[in-house]
Amino acid sequence: MSDALSPHPAAMASAMSPPPSTFTQGGGACIIAITSGKGGVGKTFVSANLAAALTRRGQRVLVLDADLGLANLDVVLNLHPKVTLHDVFTGKSSLEEAIVKAPGGFSVLLAGSGMVEYSRLTPEVRNQFVNVIQSLTPLYDVILLDTGAGISDVVLFSISMASEVLIVTTPEPTSLTDAYAAIKVLAMQQKRQHVRMVVNQAARPGDGRAITGQLQQVLGRFVATEAGRPMRLIHMGDIPADPSVRDAVMRRQLLLLHVPGCPAALAISQLANKIESTLLVPTA
Ligand SMILES: Nc1ncnc2c1ncn2[C@@H]1O[C@H](COP(=O)(O)OP(=O)(O)O)[C@@H](O)[C@H]1O
Ligand SMILES: [Mg+2]
Repeated sequence: MSDALSPHPAAMASAMSPPPSTFTQGGGACIIAITSGKGGVGKTFVSANLAAALTRRGQRVLVLDADLGLANLDVVLNLHPKVTLHDVFTGKSSLEEAIVKAPGGFSVLLAGSGMVEYSRLTPEVRNQFVNVIQSLTPLYDVILLDTGAGISDVVLFSISMASEVLIVTTPEPTSLTDAYAAIKVLAMQQKRQHVRMVVNQAARPGDGRAITGQLQQVLGRFVATEAGRPMRLIHMGDIPADPSVRDAVMRRQLLLLHVPGCPAALAISQLANKIESTLLVPTA
């Protein structure tokens, strides 16, 4: 439990320049990057609904739309923010003004469409990002970074600010190959010893664990951490392919609020349980 509150070495290592080591010092939020190799696998769906599930457990949660180029957390949550991260980055608005409450009761910091210009990692973007995260950590128990897909500079930089990484993949070979490539970069560039996996759109229960096991075997053969040990994958759960997910997205509603008993919503609740018991200090 205490390791959730101490700085992860990986949070200090980045492809370009290391962010300060103070993110999680002094008992701030546990920062979890939700990322993937391939796009469209369910990162935003998982981020939003996991945030709702953790909020229900009494955690103070903020989701940051870190997919700067293709931000769409606002669409999924049906929010029309007047103030976005863009306004904070340009000094037009304060951070407090940009934080809005989502239907699930958690806080969100939305990127909005004005962020396209940030798809390139400049020293200014880096500094702004670091400042925002540093200001947020004392205020929450958990911060979820809904990142972009792939291994661009911006994506890797946003991941570098997190102490934990949750890779979302589907069972499709293309998604798995891209997940493998992303994990390899995280081992080599960010010196991570482990990443966590969630297999979304699984066809059958148990599929996800088997997929994580297969990927672990390949990593064990080809990807070593700095300490010389194989990169470790920690299986956090499966989320079944469920038509209710698409329906909820179409209606721009949170699955967890509107169809709480459907298989995908139950899987998200289990994932929240596992995250709380392994990474967070339980409330109450
Ligand atoms: N478990 C699931 N079952 C069915 N459809 C899903 C599931 N997860 C995601 N989807 C579909 O995939 C789409 C893309 O998900 P999204 O979270 O936007 O992906 P990403 O953020 O990784 O680009 C969703 O709009 C939804 O229609
Ligand atoms: Mg997304």
